Amino acid sequence: MLLPTFLLLPFLPLGLGALSPPPQTYINTAIARTVELGGATTHITTQYNIKATSDGPGEYHLALAGEGDEEPAWWEVAVGGKPVEGVTILDDRSPTVSVPLGDLKKDETVTLSLTQVLAHASSPLPAAIEQRESQYLVWKTNSTYVDNWYPTDVERVKIRAPHPSILSYGSVPSTYTRDSTVTKSGATLTLGPFHSVPPTLGKTEVKQQPFSLHYEVKEPVIGYKTLKRSAEVSHWGANLNIQDDIALVNNGAKLKGHFSRLAHQQSKYHASVPAQILSDFTLRLPPTAHSTYYYDTIGNVSTSHFRQGTTPAQNAKSSRVRTSPRTVEGTLELRPRYPLLGGWNYTFTVGWDMPLGDVLKSEVETGKKVLAVPFLTGMKDLVVDDAELKIILPEGATDVQVFTPFPVDSISHSTHKTYLDTTGRYAVTIKKAHITENHAQNVYVTYHYPLSAQLQKPITVASVVGGLFLLGMGLRRVNYSIDKK
Ligand SMILES: *[C@@H]1O[C@H](CO)[C@@H](O)[C@H](O)[C@H]1NC(C)=O
Ligand SMILES: *[C@@H]1O[C@H](CO)[C@@H](O)[C@H](O)[C@H]1NC(C)=O
Ligand SMILES: *[C@@H]1O[C@H](CO)[C@@H](O)[C@H](O)[C@H]1NC(C)=O
Ligand SMILES: *[C@@H]1O[C@H](CO)[C@@H](O)[C@H](O)[C@H]1NC(C)=O
Repeated sequence: MLLPTFLLLPFLPLGLGALSPPPQTYINTAIARTVELGGATTHITTQYNIKATSDGPGEYHLALAGEGDEEPAWWEVAVGGKPVEGVTILDDRSPTVSVPLGDLKKDETVTLSLTQVLAHASSPLPAAIEQRESQYLVWKTNSTYVDNWYPTDVERVKIRAPHPSILSYGSVPSTYTRDSTVTKSGATLTLGPFHSVPPTLGKTEVKQQPFSLHYEVKEPVIGYKTLKRSAEVSHWGANLNIQDDIALVNNGAKLKGHFSRLAHQQSKYHASVPAQILSDFTLRLPPTAHSTYYYDTIGNVSTSHFRQGTTPAQNAKSSRVRTSPRTVEGTLELRPRYPLLGGWNYTFTVGWDMPLGDVLKSEVETGKKVLAVPFLTGMKDLVVDDAELKIILPEGATDVQVFTPFPVDSISHSTHKTYLDTTGRYAVTIKKAHITENHAQNVYVTYHYPLSAQLQKPITVASVVGGLFLLGMGLRRVNYSIDKK
């Protein structure tokens, strides 16, 4: 569903005091949380079984984090399995949203699920390692118990590391437990179950406990410091060009000592490249993407491999090859010019073209154009610290409206001028900090593109060509022969 952006922007805090506790009209009969640790991101899913303690209990205050904690980079709420749209953070300092649960009677129950992605919750420890050493991260949370505005009958938290090699983990007081507090089984820790936990937020007697876990990662911790995507629409060429300017950074442990290229070659030969070295990665492109390019500050980078995707229509055409009638994404394998060690940067540009018809639709009644542009090309466990998407519409586009699938930091409108433009093109720039794979969703832009605008380009081109022709005629009349005196 599309919502105007202003509805999605968080409200400003109303007062200076902390968020006041909601009426105690609910209890959580059970909460089950699973935390999946990664490199740059942490994925958390939490199931709440909620019971109304009075008729017409009002909206449920759902805490996304504790007081003073950062808002998760991504979060989504579903009630009874259906996503809830348009919920907003009530107060920045203790990120909480107000969720409508419907018209409940006393003792009626409902299930709610919360999905969250945290950015940079883990950091390398030790911060610097030698080239062949294993890489460990430490994950820290301020909240052992699930942050809550209501009392909870029973809750447990499972924390899953990517591998069983867990060096150490924190302890949990036995206040709300009957037997064990922390149990380790393979790569999973279970905290609790905790019984009869009072609300952890508002006026509370519970002291939240920090918890940490020191674990191994075998993949590089990839981040984009910045992503600048430009998406340029050409009605004239029926093309959408996407270009990404990327400042890639390896957020893993820094290299202690010097880098040995020989050791690196050997480890590649034995297919055991250490986790802190990033030597290649793959972008998944739309199935109809073509004409890819990849260059950095030095020039073209030849060490890339593009495999074009397919769509069912294309499969039908190539009847000789027996391919499944499926849509297959394109893939672009990119190999930076040098292996990227922890703390190193690599700045480069990739781009591709795709048919405009795949992303642009016309509304039949109004003739309005609806353009869908993905905010980013997602990658597993990726965090982009600062992302910018610039959508460049054709010259003459009017009545431009932007719909983002999530709240963004800013949207600005400007004019973009290039070669053969007369009035300049309408450009929309959207910025957002801390984005993840979950933000790889379409931004929608609607606009009018009148016939006069459609003719603007051909007329410009015609007049330029015509001008050149007249100039040529004029030049031919000039006598170039050197006057030999
Ligand atoms: C934990 O609490 C500290 C102090 O309030 C805060 O600076 C930090 O951002 C919190 N951590 C997270 C992950 O929110
Ligand atoms: C880069 O490669 C593309 C095709 O692979 C080519 O068309 C282009 O001219 C090259 N540019 C430079 C600067 O070498
Ligand atoms: C990485 O980039 C940052 C700024 O973007 C710069 O300060 C830092 O020196 C760079 N690091 C390396 C190893 O190039
Ligand atoms: C060009 O100029 C030269 C010298 O001024 C003259 O001899 C010659 O006839 C001219 N040619 C034409 C085509 O006018």
